[in-house]
Amino acid sequence: MMTDLKLTATTFFGLEEVLAQELFQLGAKEVEIGNRAVRFKGDLGFLYKANFNLHLALRVLWEIESFDKIYKAEQLYKAIRRIEWSNYLNPSQTFRIDVTGQTKYFKNTRFIALKAKDAIVDQFRDKFDRRPDISLRQPDIHIILHFHDQVLRVHLDSSGESLHKRGYRTQTNIAPLNEVLAAGIVSLSQWRGCCSLLDPMCGSGTILIEAAMLEMRIPAAINRTHFAFQNWTNYQSDLFELIKTSSLKKIRELPDGVQLIGYDKAPSAVEKARQNIKNAHLDDFINIEQNDFFKVEKPDSVSYLIFNPPYDERLSIDVKSFYKQIGDVLKKNYAGIEAWLLVGNLQALKYIGLRPSKRIKLFNGKLEARLVHYQLYKGSKKSKF
Ligand SMILES: C[S@@+](CC[C@H](N)C(=O)[O-])C[C@H]1O[C@@H](n2cnc3c(N)ncnc32)[C@H](O)[C@@H]1O
Repeated sequence: MMTDLKLTATTFFGLEEVLAQELFQLGAKEVEIGNRAVRFKGDLGFLYKANFNLHLALRVLWEIESFDKIYKAEQLYKAIRRIEWSNYLNPSQTFRIDVTGQTKYFKNTRFIALKAKDAIVDQFRDKFDRRPDISLRQPDIHIILHFHDQVLRVHLDSSGESLHKRGYRTQTNIAPLNEVLAAGIVSLSQWRGCCSLLDPMCGSGTILIEAAMLEMRIPAAINRTHFAFQNWTNYQSDLFELIKTSSLKKIRELPDGVQLIGYDKAPSAVEKARQNIKNAHLDDFINIEQNDFFKVEKPDSVSYLIFNPPYDERLSIDVKSFYKQIGDVLKKNYAGIEAWLLVGNLQALKYIGLRPSKRIKLFNGKLEARLVHYQLYKGSKKSKF
């Protein structure tokens, strides 16, 4: 088996460290944190394992070659042609090239992709008199060229469709969180099944579903039917079956007494969340109720809150009074608990009127957001609010 492949898992800004921890726990070697990415080493089986299990990665890439001192089109063409492409695709397969990273030596990424495509196609024509075609929509092989100035890394995307597409979310409300971001928030919160968790504005239920999957060690891609590595010439289906079976054996129950509860005041959101939870086969573990967070008492069992309130970008609310009310309700009803909020409106944060003990910069789509942590003290420490 091929050992020590150079692998990279990509993710969102701010989730690199928690992804590195997840990779480390899964058994990755030489884990190194990058920018929206974590580099690591592992064999082909580990590449399958990473794709099947990781909750915090968007894609897993295999670096097949790297080149230094690529300043000109001619150097780029020669470098790409030096790779033995018949090891990775055959003439009857389709491929696509994407370019990421930054380099001041080339005017645009389209030009880089075109040059690289010419090099691959010319190599096939010379050797086999046949060439693989391009497919932008459903390529068999997805090549990603990453530039860091004059250094070029050539990757194969082993995932295909982004790994955030878990398959459970058939129903969305108007502002659902990306699944990887939701898993990231839960990981950053350090909840780790310590106690019962409430998402009091749960929308389509993503945070609760991801929390359950993380804590119960349910592989993130459990419902996925295809990965790009299954199109590769070196694909070993027996090995993948083994990896899946051993990953599924690690699934465990939630700790005793730990409940996952969601509220939403909109009946349509409640219905959608319930459907998504059913799709994820988690209806025995997550309970959704139609409730207005501002009007109900705290459930006795709950000592952790994680949520992303609306922030007026896509859902229209009076930001000032809405966020003030969040702060008031937390102070009044939730003393003694920890609360984590993802807020995409930086102005809105100050209306909460509580001092966060942590602020973590994240992005929700293009929107700069903060994940804030409030430790809501009981009794005498109330003055800390
Ligand atoms: C930004 S969305 C949450 C998205 C969710 N995290 C997801 O991934 O689908 C905010 C949700 O808060 C709900 N909401 C607004 N005010 C509320 C209130 N007072 N009580 C409970 N839910 C509320 C909205 O109906 C909406 O579904």
